[in-house]
Amino acid sequence: MDFAIPLNPDAPLPMYRQIYEGLRHKILAGKLAPGQRVPSTRSLSEYLKVSRNTVAQSYAQLLSEGYFQAIVGSGTFVCRQIPADLSEATLPQPTQLPHQHNRSLSTYGESLVDFNPFVPPDPSAAISFRYGRPALDEFPQAIWRQLLSRHCRSQRDALDYNPDLLGHRPLRQAIADYLERSRQVCCHPDCIAIVSGSQQAIDLTARIFINRGDTVAIENPGYLGAKQAFAAQGASLCPISVDELGIVVEELPKFALSPTKLIYVTPSHQFPTGAVMSLSRRLELLTWAQARGALIIEDDYDSEYRYGERPIPALKELDRNDAVLYMGTFSKVLFPALRIGYLVLPPDLVDVFCHAKWLADRQSPLLEQYVLTDFIAEGHLERHIRRMRNLYDRRRQALVQALSKYFARQASIMGENAGMHVMMQLNLLLSDEEILARAVQVGVGITNASPYYLKNSCRGQFILGYTELNESQIEEGIYRLSKVLKV
Ligand SMILES: Cc1ncc(COP(=O)(O)O)c(C=O)c1O
Repeated sequence: MDFAIPLNPDAPLPMYRQIYEGLRHKILAGKLAPGQRVPSTRSLSEYLKVSRNTVAQSYAQLLSEGYFQAIVGSGTFVCRQIPADLSEATLPQPTQLPHQHNRSLSTYGESLVDFNPFVPPDPSAAISFRYGRPALDEFPQAIWRQLLSRHCRSQRDALDYNPDLLGHRPLRQAIADYLERSRQVCCHPDCIAIVSGSQQAIDLTARIFINRGDTVAIENPGYLGAKQAFAAQGASLCPISVDELGIVVEELPKFALSPTKLIYVTPSHQFPTGAVMSLSRRLELLTWAQARGALIIEDDYDSEYRYGERPIPALKELDRNDAVLYMGTFSKVLFPALRIGYLVLPPDLVDVFCHAKWLADRQSPLLEQYVLTDFIAEGHLERHIRRMRNLYDRRRQALVQALSKYFARQASIMGENAGMHVMMQLNLLLSDEEILARAVQVGVGITNASPYYLKNSCRGQFILGYTELNESQIEEGIYRLSKVLKV
């Protein structure tokens, strides 16, 4: 009989399901022909030595999925219209599947195939000078937990969409007050949009402004996340050099086929060189942008950390003509998984940003916005920043001293007066690859700066984050590097 089905009463799959799978397989393999009569439930149950009810259950499933057809007064049949391409003979073998897709990705999709979202160094290195990472061990978790449970208990609203597309209004007020106190940026809370980190702020800006082929000026070297977001929209990227005073405004294109639409800068602590943009450069940049109707994107990602002196005000503070789109993040001062950042928008751009944010991901989670509002309003944010500034300052000094002790003139550093990393220039007769390989041998992780250049990369430049390591780890790491590099 064509209806022989191997059954195993001990298998985790119920018996009715085994019969269903067995019959379905026979149909797809062409062993039961379309239109063929199938035995009654009574005769198949006797043949398979199972209850009639079990067979009836499998028939019901096959009928509901269209593999069987019931004709009143005649019996049950294999469906006549099993599509030919469902038959197993025409299905590709499962083992052939994974590498045989011939999908056509967009240009953007193609560019991501070999993209590595996590730039080294390897976090598993015994001493990893990873950059841009807060000292998470120092985060006041107990306070955060307390605020979280306060809002978990009482806030039904946090489960629903916030009708306010810009984000939780009290959080926007708290950020406006904080920016005025700490960055001298005066803005109305209704010009602040809450976003999922500054990466989303950059991404939305790119979507809103860039048409394929539009020119975007970026710092060279610069932040890869911004470069990718602009490239994704088809921007034509124009890399502009950076020196110890920040972006070299003189190099901005004066005569281009398409005028520069956006200029992306990190004036407080240029990423990754660490240069702080001078006042004259700031004024020059604003004048340049205003004269051409270009919009400046100011990414103020780690400006809270300035050592020795007070933080210098943001570029936005000098902006009298709404030429600057200012963005900041809580990823560096609190923790990166929080995914809360903010944009200070010129009033005419508020609606379009709200709509772009809604289409991108509706809104950022509300519960975290409630918690963060209280965290700022009750003074925890600025207390934490002050504590971290002192801690990072000690770690930074340990790094500067260790480099001077073990490398003397063979290493120079840039950007050490601000932020959470320094850029080191090694003057050694070794290639960058050799330096990285030797560092790995002694369990030390550092980041080569050349991938951050769009053109003219410099040999021997490395980014060293110091915020996650204690002073003795820092000294030990630099000592190990000197031993393995200066041979
Ligand atoms: C210069 C710069 N801007 C923006 C970001 C994005 O930060 P987030 O999206 O976590 O706010 C980073 C992250 O490392 C960064 O280094």
